[in-house]
This record gives sequence, C-alpha cells and structure tokens, in this order.
Amino acid sequence: MKFFIDTADVAEIKDLAETGLVDGVTTNPSLIAKSGRKFLDVVKEICAIVDGPVSAEVTALDFETMLREADVLRRLADNVAIKVPLTRDGLKACKRLSSEGTLVNVTLCFSAAQALLAAKAGAAFISPFVGRLDDIGSEGMELISDICEIYANYDFDTEVLVASVRSPMHVLEAARLGADVATVPPGVLRQMYGHPLTDKGLEAFAKDWAKTGQSIL
Ligand code: G3P
Repeated sequence: MKFFIDTADVAEIKDLAETGLVDGVTTNPSLIAKSGRKFLDVVKEICAIVDGPVSAEVTALDFETMLREADVLRRLADNVAIKVPLTRDGLKACKRLSSEGTLVNVTLCFSAAQALLAAKAGAAFISPFVGRLDDIGSEGMELISDICEIYANYDFDTEVLVASVRSPMHVLEAARLGADVATVPPGVLRQMYGHPLTDKGLEAFAKDWAKTGQSIL
C-alpha cells in the first residue's frame, strides 16, 4: 500500500519524507489556502522533496480553462499529477490529459458510478472521500469496497486513492480492502506509528539496559 501525505505544509512534508515512507503528496485548494503561500511555489517545492506523484488541483470548472490550468501545473515538474473534479468537464479533461500521458487524479468522488466513469476516462487515481461520507452518516468504507471490486472486475489500472482520511482506522480498513493508496494528514501518519505500549516497553528496556552498564558503541 502506498502512503501519500495530504497537506501543502512543506515543513511537514520534509519531516515525514525523511522516514522514507512517503510515496507522494496530495494538495487541494483548501490546503493551499491553509498554507498561506503561493500555489505554484508550493507545488514546485513539494515536487523537489518527493519523487512520487504530487497532486495539484485545477480550480476552473469548465473544460477549456481546466486544460489551460493543467498545462501550467504540469510544467512545474515531471511528477505533478493533475487533480480534476468529478464533473462532466472534469472527466472530459481527465480523458484528454490522460491520453497525453499526464497523470490525472479525479477528486471529490462520492459514488461507485462516478468512480467507474473516472476509470473509463483513464484516471491514474480516483479519490473517494471517506471521511466526508462518514460525516453525513454514510459508510465511507463501503464505497472503497465497491470501487475495489468494480475495478478488479475489469482490470482497470486506475488506483484507488482513499482520501478524506481522518484516523488510523480509516487507513487500516482501506488496507484490508486492498486500496492502492491512502492519502493521510500528517497527524494521522504520526498517530499510526505511536503506541503507548511501545513507549512503555522502551522505557523499561532503557532502564534495564542502564543497569548492565554496557554500551554498543
Ligand atoms: O485532498 C482531499 C481530502 O483528503 C480532503 O479531506 O478532511 O478535507 O475531507 P477532508
């Protein structure tokens, strides 16, 4: 399973990328706004930190302007993936950009029918938002299960990129279902490697090791 980081905070990305566990990054207009920085500068910087795909989202709603924006974004670096919304124009843009060899991430997916269309349009990634479905009383993970099943039936190459992840449990459930990627907020990734019993065990080992008076180096 691949882990992408869902943030536009360059310092966080640098810190987490040092672990070697980050396979890519996803951004969106809200995360860019939160960073308080210039969109193009941020994307360029992130692309230099991670080798994997960095999703940068178009903001236009019409096909022609989406293509013009995508052209600016994909020139920033070789590892830019263009994020388009799951609308009629977004799918049309996905089809065109994918046929030109550009990686496309189709975002704001809330149904399996939408995901099926994105795969038909040649998307490299489909981003179903599990947290936002949970927020309205739906079962976000059921959507992941449906999409994984449908894509497997037809051997679609589109990768299921679980987005709007709110907890380590979301990541685990996505992994159980065989999703290809989870894009995880930095805080959730840190929660994943922390466990109170690990801390407690480490403390006990350190105390006992001190008693031996030995040193490895
Ligand atoms: O990048 C899209 C995404 O992961 C959104 O998450 O928490 O705003 O629903 P959230």
